[in-house]
Amino acid sequence: MKEQWMAVDEFISATLVPSDLAFSSALEASTAAALPPIQISPPLGKFLFLMASICQAKRILEIGTLGGYSTIWLGRALPIDGRLTSLEVDPKHAAVAQGNIARANLANKVDVLIGRALDTLPQLASNGKGPFDLIFIDADKSNYPEYFDWSLRLSRKGTVIVADNVIRGGRVIDEASDDADSQGIRRFVEMVGTNRRVAATAIQTVGSKGYDGFAIALVL
Ligand code: SAH
Ligand code: DHB
Ligand code: MG
Repeated sequence: MKEQWMAVDEFISATLVPSDLAFSSALEASTAAALPPIQISPPLGKFLFLMASICQAKRILEIGTLGGYSTIWLGRALPIDGRLTSLEVDPKHAAVAQGNIARANLANKVDVLIGRALDTLPQLASNGKGPFDLIFIDADKSNYPEYFDWSLRLSRKGTVIVADNVIRGGRVIDEASDDADSQGIRRFVEMVGTNRRVAATAIQTVGSKGYDGFAIALVL
């Protein structure tokens, strides 16, 4: 099955998701720096671009930068005066991302904040940053519940929250799992489901990254 998922993802990418030098050089630089190849797939990148465009997002928050591949997709949806803040714990990832973001001509719109997101999120809040129009959660899965809480604090009515990797090959429903990541995403999905401030769903996906999925929530 995986081979067909990959072939279809390649077809979708070739027909609907044209790449360009900013994306290809970002991926090359990430590989050269030995970053883990766990960035979102091109079709999901285009989805984030479309979502930010549909929302007319001017303020975007990303939790988990890696080499900035998703950052570039989101940043490209910003208007001239739009801004994106991306949070990354690993200084090496952040440095690669900053190079990639500069090559994508987005350095003037994007800030990469280095530190544990659970440290930088409170700083954003106390510095009066936000509300954000779109928030993309894609860092360590065990902290997704906390990231959801912080996302709500940094939201307004109409904010869209997207979270990557909420299915994880189906492990989200493995209640017996002692894996902190699986526990984190399960608790995250349950929290989103019981929170009356949001309307939400989760969509399973297959493709070049295997079987996974994303959640999307609208702040009411
Ligand atoms: N959004 C990226 C992929 C992010 S991978 C893309 O699609 O292109 C997850 C990233 O989260 C990694 O770079 C990892 O270093 C970072 N991360 C892990 N734990 C973190 C934490 N506690 N705070 C901030 N970033 C963290
Ligand atoms: C993995 C994939 C991701 O999209 C991510 O954000 C973190 C980890 C993985 O495949 O391990
Ligand atoms: Mg991810």
